[in-house]
Amino acid sequence: MNKLNNRTRRVENRFGKSGSMSAKPGSPSAAKPLARDRVRTVVLVGFMGAGKTTVGRALSRRLGRPFEDLDDRIHHREGKTIEQIFRESGETGFRKAETAALRELLGELGSSLRVVALGGGAFVEPGNAALIEEAEAHSVFLDAPVEELLRRCMEETTERPLRQNPEQFRVLYEKRRRSYMRAAVRIETGGKDVDTVAAEVACSLGLG
Ligand code: S3P
Repeated sequence: MNKLNNRTRRVENRFGKSGSMSAKPGSPSAAKPLARDRVRTVVLVGFMGAGKTTVGRALSRRLGRPFEDLDDRIHHREGKTIEQIFRESGETGFRKAETAALRELLGELGSSLRVVALGGGAFVEPGNAALIEEAEAHSVFLDAPVEELLRRCMEETTERPLRQNPEQFRVLYEKRRRSYMRAAVRIETGGKDVDTVAAEVACSLGLG
């Protein structure tokens, strides 16, 4: 599992140097926390370098609930790494595989809470966001200043087909940010360690 191995090699306990947490105005975290029994699955969304996988793992440990990374499911279903899928089928082929994997995952959800990390483009696809909403999963946008996201990605060994150069990275982030903002909750991750962010996600959902 190339990608999984790469992911485990990431710096797991810190994100960066600056920033603060905030909740989207009017979001559940700003209003009243969700009752534990109403929360089924937490879906972490955000750009490359947001820490969806590392925070997801920490949150899963904290809550004692299973964790799943959508890219890993795609890898297993397709029998190919994410990079291979991009190389052989392009982004269009990858998005099809991604939606199929997401549908499958959401279809398997029982009544118990799970923590799911999406790839950076998954929530941007309107159909996928609708599937997540229909499944009554709670989306959480892990945000950070784009320069920090870039720095985190540069420090990692993970292959990212859509991280071509800094300018393209910034442009793509700006293009996608509005979609991420549709998540139920936004957590600023800049300058925080992974466990702090996981705790803030749990608290914002009333699961602290
Ligand atoms: C993508 C992000 C990647 C992976 C794929 C596409 C994107 O996941 O799904 O390379 O479109 O931003 P990470 O966000 O975990 O790097």
